[in-house]
Amino acid sequence: MADITQRPQEEPKEGFHKKFMEKNSLLLTVGIILTISIGGLIEIAPLFYLNSTIEEVDGVRPYSPLELAGRQIYLREGCYNCHSQMIRPLRDEVERYGHYSLAAESMYDRPFQWGSKRTGPDLARVGGRYSDEWHRDHLINPQSVVPESIMPPYAFLQDAVLDYSNIQAHLRVNQFLGVPYSDEAVENAAADLEAQVDEFSSGYGDLIARYPGAQVRNFDGNPDVITEMDALIAYLQVLGTMVDFSTYEPEADGNQR
Ligand code: HEC
Repeated sequence: MADITQRPQEEPKEGFHKKFMEKNSLLLTVGIILTISIGGLIEIAPLFYLNSTIEEVDGVRPYSPLELAGRQIYLREGCYNCHSQMIRPLRDEVERYGHYSLAAESMYDRPFQWGSKRTGPDLARVGGRYSDEWHRDHLINPQSVVPESIMPPYAFLQDAVLDYSNIQAHLRVNQFLGVPYSDEAVENAAADLEAQVDEFSSGYGDLIARYPGAQVRNFDGNPDVITEMDALIAYLQVLGTMVDFSTYEPEADGNQR
């Protein structure tokens, strides 16, 4: 019977390259770097030949100054700690929230608000789902409209006068970062902001020309003063409404346009 405890007499055969490479750590390092570089190039190089990794979609426009100011309040109050803004392309999400989010829909978000924390529901398509009054009641006292809600109240927003002294700078920074605000839009930021809460203002036409489809009305029900509530509701009401999904068709050829 063969002695199985005995080691094989012969050393396993090793090729020259293996022996040589493994004993020359420098050469091995160079070899590893070379191999990884080739792999990396194959993955990364094609990206430089794409015009854009975001497919442009009709209807997506930069935020109006009032919406932008509202977005700032959304960030300041940390709403993103409980709310995501990205509908994943999964059946249960699409059935609950609507069409899955497109990259283009957050292309002017600096920074994006996709998130993954959902203590509350996703807000990517909350625009138009509720009336301004509902939002007002809900923000003042969430339990008044959703008794089991654990969302904290934000009643102070209705009394907080919106400080938009920096709105021009805010647009300019976004312009600098690549959001296509025209110089004219930057110049008129404050006027556009004021026009959006007043349907009868003289700035209405200019506002709509610069921000097609912008919703113009007094959002907080108090026409005397522009509040943080106005701005935040204007922002919530535009979320997910820019793209018309009754006519939207994904591009078959993906990125090659
Ligand atoms: C502690 C977590 C938490 C924070 C912070 C929070 N929310 Fe909520 N939110 C919830 C929960 C939970 C719900 C679901 C119950 C309800 O409708 O109140 C909700 C619901 C909502 C809804 C209704 C969504 C729908 O589709 O029915 C809106 C709009 C909303 N929140 C906006 C906000 C805004 C704006 C802020 C920041 C000012 C904010 N939330 C901060 C937890 C939170």
